[in-house]
Amino acid sequence: MIKKKNNLCGEEGVEVGRVTIDEITPDVTEPSCPDELYHLLTEYATDLISLNTIDGRRVWSSRSLERLRGPVTNIFENAHPHELKTILRWWKRILDGSTERHRWRVRTVAGEWRWLETATGLLTYQHRPYVLCTARDVTEQKLAEDLLRAKSKQIREMAAHLVEVEEAERRKLSQELHDRIGQILTALSINLNTIRRQITGDLREKIVPRINDSLSLTEEAVSRIKDVMADLRPPVLDDYGLLATLRWYGKQFASRTGIAVKIQGKEISPRPASNIEIALFRITQEAFTNISKHAKATKVTVILTNDKDSLCLSICDDGVGFHHSEKAEKDKRRGWGLLTMTERAESLGGEFRIEPRPKQGTRVVVKVPR
Ligand SMILES: Nc1ncnc2c1ncn2[C@@H]1O[C@H](COP(=O)(O)OP(=O)(O)O)[C@@H](O)[C@H]1O
Ligand SMILES: [Mg+2]
Repeated sequence: MIKKKNNLCGEEGVEVGRVTIDEITPDVTEPSCPDELYHLLTEYATDLISLNTIDGRRVWSSRSLERLRGPVTNIFENAHPHELKTILRWWKRILDGSTERHRWRVRTVAGEWRWLETATGLLTYQHRPYVLCTARDVTEQKLAEDLLRAKSKQIREMAAHLVEVEEAERRKLSQELHDRIGQILTALSINLNTIRRQITGDLREKIVPRINDSLSLTEEAVSRIKDVMADLRPPVLDDYGLLATLRWYGKQFASRTGIAVKIQGKEISPRPASNIEIALFRITQEAFTNISKHAKATKVTVILTNDKDSLCLSICDDGVGFHHSEKAEKDKRRGWGLLTMTERAESLGGEFRIEPRPKQGTRVVVKVPR
């Protein structure tokens, strides 16, 4: 049974908010009143309901829809001209049996463009086919989604820019070290050798050991600077390509950490663009750093493969692995490593995947188009 405070059912211009349904109780003694109930439901439903012929002619619409769109006679009336083609295609798919929802813009009676999301159902009434449409105004949601999408695009562009800036800075610093400090150290070592040759007599015994010590300190400085330079921008990458660099880096990593490194694959020919090579190398560096920091691994296998469209790099360790939940927890606190690796791969139009297998190690897979 339905009791209303104001029996306004069916009156023109009724506002939904003015009518209150006090209670709905199943009452077997009273005759049910489905027509009135159906009428009420459609009258006060906030969803926008309409019944249309298969060519889009409107035969019935809910008050909510009339309030929004006015007395339109056709579902496609007042649709945004930019969306008309896609709406017609969607409608055709609906008639072919699809149940997909569709988002489209309509001009309201107030002259405003609003986004509707429409769900449909095909039905037969009095032996004729109809399309029942139920729509919702999703304008605010759509605008929020668009804003979010635009912001995340901006963030990704910024991240890609940061990666480029970082690479350029590294290259510049490496060049400076080579051109300035490297040359000074070479000159210093030539001077020390000359002095050593020219010292004679009593002074020789006293000073030569000091000079020798200074020479070996100079050599050590040269070798340290070479390491720093190689870390900043491995020259082998520019000269010999990615696989050679991975081998060189793997050897260094193995001797520094005691973790065995195996590099498999063959040099890619023709050579990929240098931004691809450097991105894959940086991802390997970050993955290796994670292995030495977190994995407790004894060996790492790197496999570089390619086909005519893409390059694939996989880095697999036999360490402790981890749970995704663990990672998510840590991501909240820090976790720039995985994020940067993902960003590097995606900025090349590729994909990054990490497969943590608890107690069986971790595999990092990067695939990028060439
Ligand atoms: N090879 C690995 N083995 C075990 N755990 C790993 C490995 N790589 C990443 N992780 C886990 O993923 C987390 C996030 O890694 P990352 O984003 O590089 O941040 P960070 O290294 O600064 O912790 C790590 O803290 C670690 O728990
Ligand atoms: Mg890390």
